[in-house]
Amino acid sequence: MSERRDVRVLYDEAEIADRVEAMAEALAKTDFHNLLVVAVLKGSFMFAADFLRAMHRHGMQPQVEFVHLSSYLEGTVSQGHVRILKDIESGVSGRDVLLVDDILESGRTLAFAKDLLMARGARSVALSVMLEKPHKRVVQIEADYVGFKCPDEFVVGYGMDVAHQYRELPFIGVVC
Ligand code: IMP
Ligand code: MG
Repeated sequence: MSERRDVRVLYDEAEIADRVEAMAEALAKTDFHNLLVVAVLKGSFMFAADFLRAMHRHGMQPQVEFVHLSSYLEGTVSQGHVRILKDIESGVSGRDVLLVDDILESGRTLAFAKDLLMARGARSVALSVMLEKPHKRVVQIEADYVGFKCPDEFVVGYGMDVAHQYRELPFIGVVC
């Protein structure tokens, strides 16, 4: 097995659980119409699983879908493009959609996903992210539900990776 570096904890399990519960509580106060939760793979899988269980505790009964998106940079120009690696299988016409992602950084991924779902006729598309890096936005887009505003560092754990490592960590941290 390759050598792993230590991870300094930024948000521990208990802090994450508290925020997820509070986000679900806020969400449950909104009157959604035929809510469809769309988790953006891969990074959101752990947050989405916890968030959905918290939604259930707050009396919500959303349907769930997954989309796998990949952003990549082309040439030397820092212009991001987003590709659909796996699309959702349900129609979204007339429905309220909640996108769930791990982290909002440039905003390209979620702007792409939101535009796509609105173009397919969604009634509304709200955004929820575990983390937000406030000063990194390239596209004008804000999340409706945010776990933590995080420092401008590369974070791992709770679904998030660097080179396919650290996704399994139950906390969020920075590789030392
Ligand atoms: P955006 O399109 O720039 O907002 O990209 C957000 C995506 O980039 C997230 O969904 C993550 O998959 C990835 N990402 C951005 N920052 C980090 C980080 O600090 N750690 C791990 N993944 C990150
Ligand atoms: Mg992602």
